Amino acid sequence: MKILFMNGPNLNMLGIREKQIYGDMSLDTINQRLQAECDKLGVETEFYQSNIEGELVDKIHSTYGTNYDGIVFNPGAYSHYSLALSDAIKCINIPVVEVHMSNVFAREDSRHQMTTAKNSLGVISGFGEQSYFLGLYALLGRKA
Ligand code: DQA
Repeated sequence: MKILFMNGPNLNMLGIREKQIYGDMSLDTINQRLQAECDKLGVETEFYQSNIEGELVDKIHSTYGTNYDGIVFNPGAYSHYSLALSDAIKCINIPVVEVHMSNVFAREDSRHQMTTAKNSLGVISGFGEQSYFLGLYALLGRKA
């Protein structure tokens, strides 16, 4: 089994940005913990982060026709308005579980619009760094 963990804009600033919302763990630390969990489970991984919409589109496209079993994706703010990312998810034949650290539905109205979620398998929102692990387990459970 092979999973791609993808993060969109500003998630490289985890541990620094709005700690009251996102906590103080860096993305590197979260990824190291995901790697350790995947090692235990015998799951192959890749980690990717970009602040640029087109690069995220290209990365999603690059999984087409490969042996990836799924993508755990936090698109950041692009979740709320990026038709390009939403369309990219639709281009590939690989399930995408969308994850958010914060509960976006408990935040500003502008975060309630979920454009990428429309083409994602499902959404996990509100569990801090645990959201990434829950996304992983969702994909594993699907495969079981
Ligand atoms: C986020 C939620 C988004 O609304 C926000 O723009 C982010 C992070 C989350 O993980 O909670 O950058 O995706």
